[in-house]
Amino acid sequence: MKRIAILTSGGDAPGMNAHIRAVVRTGLARGLEVVGIVGGYEGLMEGNFRNLERKDTVNIVSQGGTMLKTSRSEVFLSKEGRIKGAQQLKDNKIDGLITCGGDGTLKGAHALFKEHGIRVVGTPGTIDNDLYGTYYTIGFDTACNTAAEAIDRIRDTADSHGRVFIVEVMGRHEGHIAMEVGISCGAEYISVPEAVTNLEILYDKYTQLGFHNRTIIVIGEGGGKYKGAYQLAEALKSEYNIDAKCAVLGHIQRGGSPTVRDRNLASHLGLSAVDALLAGKTNVLVGRVHHNITYTPFPETWTKRKELQPYMFDLAELLA
Ligand code: F6P
Repeated sequence: MKRIAILTSGGDAPGMNAHIRAVVRTGLARGLEVVGIVGGYEGLMEGNFRNLERKDTVNIVSQGGTMLKTSRSEVFLSKEGRIKGAQQLKDNKIDGLITCGGDGTLKGAHALFKEHGIRVVGTPGTIDNDLYGTYYTIGFDTACNTAAEAIDRIRDTADSHGRVFIVEVMGRHEGHIAMEVGISCGAEYISVPEAVTNLEILYDKYTQLGFHNRTIIVIGEGGGKYKGAYQLAEALKSEYNIDAKCAVLGHIQRGGSPTVRDRNLASHLGLSAVDALLAGKTNVLVGRVHHNITYTPFPETWTKRKELQPYMFDLAELLA
């Protein structure tokens, strides 16, 4: 193996730059040429390749976003798109590919392996933490910290005015961010797609608060019965005549400088991904469970589910 490439794809996640830096520096240290593919799978199909040197990765460890840019490519979902992408890899003499992203990214990488025999390993880059095969994904910790900081601020207003706030966080179809953030902010109720949102329990908590009734509800965007903050607010109004304010945190959770945890995870997985390619691994997600590097066949990362731990539900209810 002489020449490897890296791309970032899907939603950007804080820590992707630290990851690219680790891949480049490890690759060079192992005597490889390292190529950056700019623009995710779109850039792959267009042949947007550039050689990366150590100097290209100076001062990026603390930066959010991805210096290689990213995309959500419709075209790459087609066989024709992937033929183009695989041809570009062959034309550019790429012996091994690292794809950093979420489940869509890993599905694309799996197709490249299956249809074209491309040697490829994936790394988990998404704020959602919804990939089986790794305890944490790159970006999750930063997103949670950003959301927690926002909720701490909202709490000041909620507390001063005795208001009910429903804060909607990202996470697509899963409630990892909502649960993590809800517990750490002491939310009175956490609504996640994985569990039924029970308005009676929520109302009980609200009435127990007594004076002022300041209440923080965290809801994952993936919903469940209520699709997001505004639907839940409507239900509270019609069932209990409660006026709730809504705050949808949105993309602020994706930006910003990565936390120490994300930088370290991204660096460890970057080094490990290069070494995985050198060890002949392919068609696997390189993840970390406890402190161990793990290799999970791509299809398992989306057919198996990383469940929210039962203790989290207990904590959320007991401490609220
Ligand atoms: O997968 C990351 C994520 O931020 C999800 O939490 C969210 O549902 C989605 O991406 C938003 O995607 P986009 O940035 O394309 O609107």
